[in-house]
Amino acid sequence: MGRRRRIRHHVNPLSVHHMDTGASRLSLPPGLPVEVELGCAEGSFLFARAHVAPERTYVGVEIREALVERVNLRAAQESVPVQAVYANLNLDLETLFAPGSVDLCHVNFPDPCFKRSQHKRRFFTLDLAGTIAQVLTPDGVLAVQTDIWDLGLEALEILELSDEFENLCGEWTFAPTNVFGAQTRREGFCLENGEKVWRLRFAKVRSTQRLNLY
Ligand SMILES: C[S@@+](CC[C@H](N)C(=O)[O-])C[C@H]1O[C@@H](n2cnc3c(N)ncnc32)[C@H](O)[C@@H]1O
Repeated sequence: MGRRRRIRHHVNPLSVHHMDTGASRLSLPPGLPVEVELGCAEGSFLFARAHVAPERTYVGVEIREALVERVNLRAAQESVPVQAVYANLNLDLETLFAPGSVDLCHVNFPDPCFKRSQHKRRFFTLDLAGTIAQVLTPDGVLAVQTDIWDLGLEALEILELSDEFENLCGEWTFAPTNVFGAQTRREGFCLENGEKVWRLRFAKVRSTQRLNLY
């Protein structure tokens, strides 16, 4: 009987091992909206989304290879349009996705290591927001959720100050509800325990809109 691969709780995305993941451009079925989760872990959110909205393609980007294998095995067993790819989301997004090709990008409960000493490991940064804007379609949307207030506030500040995104819920405002009909395991756990989830929904600003600002 095959042994299950040990799954590490955390990996260091800055380690040399994850600097060259060998990521290449994904070939995605044409004509279907593309929905991506950055840091998808075991993919529970993507599987739940595929259940709610099956006429889409779902891609999870994940740095823990054992989880990538697990997601792809489950997707094949359940015949759902979900795939995971081993990649470093801070380095590989533009390699994986053509410019303007992603309709909806989710960042769910990123960075559990929020101690000051681990700030440099954080994955939701201004650079990442810029790269997400590149790969989103002109009508693309970025959704972020976290149960950590400091991270929610930091992501809100990054996106409000970026001229590439516009808050769909009003300036400097968190989204009141989850509109996606799917939860991650962490979200379920937080809600069961009465903890607050901070949500953001930003649309990509079309370049013509940006020009109108001046
Ligand atoms: C706290 S977990 C959240 C998992 C899932 N999104 C959820 O809400 O349940 C963050 C995930 O991001 C992955 N991750 C962290 N840094 C990454 C990076 N640079 N590239 C790809 N995945 C990364 C971790 O391995 C982990 O699975």
